[in-house]
Amino acid sequence: MPDSYALFGYPVQHSWSPFIHGMFARQAGQDMVYRLHESPPERFRSDVLEFFSAGGRGINVTLPHKRAAADLVNELTPRAQLADAVNTVVRRDELLIGDNTDGAGLLADLTRNLGLSFDSPRILLLGAGGAARGALGPLMSLEPRLMVIANRTAERAVALAEDFAELGPVSGCAFGRLENHRFDLIVNATSASLRGDVPLIPIGVVDSMTVCYDMAYGVGDTPFVAWAKRLGAARAEQGWGMLVEQAAEAFELWRGVRPDTRPVLEALKLRAAPGPGTRP
Ligand code: ATR
Repeated sequence: MPDSYALFGYPVQHSWSPFIHGMFARQAGQDMVYRLHESPPERFRSDVLEFFSAGGRGINVTLPHKRAAADLVNELTPRAQLADAVNTVVRRDELLIGDNTDGAGLLADLTRNLGLSFDSPRILLLGAGGAARGALGPLMSLEPRLMVIANRTAERAVALAEDFAELGPVSGCAFGRLENHRFDLIVNATSASLRGDVPLIPIGVVDSMTVCYDMAYGVGDTPFVAWAKRLGAARAEQGWGMLVEQAAEAFELWRGVRPDTRPVLEALKLRAAPGPGTRP
């Protein structure tokens, strides 16, 4: 019997994860299956425990369960602890270990796939929800000279910045307070793109040296990517690479093999059909 893996989310039917992990498995010669598991919040815990008692080896977790998954596992990796959210669970003997590969996926995409390097960058992180929290620790590893979290609801940005104050110079504010600042890297971790919106930030934050990255991905430009292009950003990228790289991190954790992400990313972009934007 092949080893069994699954993605738990609500909804999950549009997910590309089975395609990605299927390609990884073929590439690495791994005997495994990866299925989608739609689980509403009230059933998430029992569904996951049932999956593991039936012999399941590991799961990915997506919206809206990443926080609940952190409460369910027996142990958290340091990066999952920092993110306060879990997107990957691996079973080790009788223990469930929760990890978070989203931020590492973002960094891998920025530095390896997109070939970007940063020297004490000024970073702007948009959003203060779970996705922003997950990205913050890995972004701080770029040793920014300035890290600003801006959010529609300013208090959430300030609170998030306080939680990470020990890691470096991080502050939180409202979008409107960004007037007269420019940044080397802007990461959109809001869910605005999923509704066809762009966060209402002053246009002066972008110039011809700014790299703009939208964690959301879709067919054609996401609203944020289109906005960044209009403003003449140096690069305007969306989150397909982050999606594939966070999956590769999970795959390596489960199978001990690092898959080659490039052919998977290329295949994914070719296959993606028009539909709503989404996020890992
Ligand atoms: P996730 O876990 O995906 O980050 P979340 O915790 O609901 O989801 O957070 C969504 C983030 O997107 C929040 O920062 C939210 O701003 P608020 O805290 O003010 O709600 C942000 N967001 C959602 N829609 C937005 C929009 N149209 N413009 C700007 N920010 C938006």
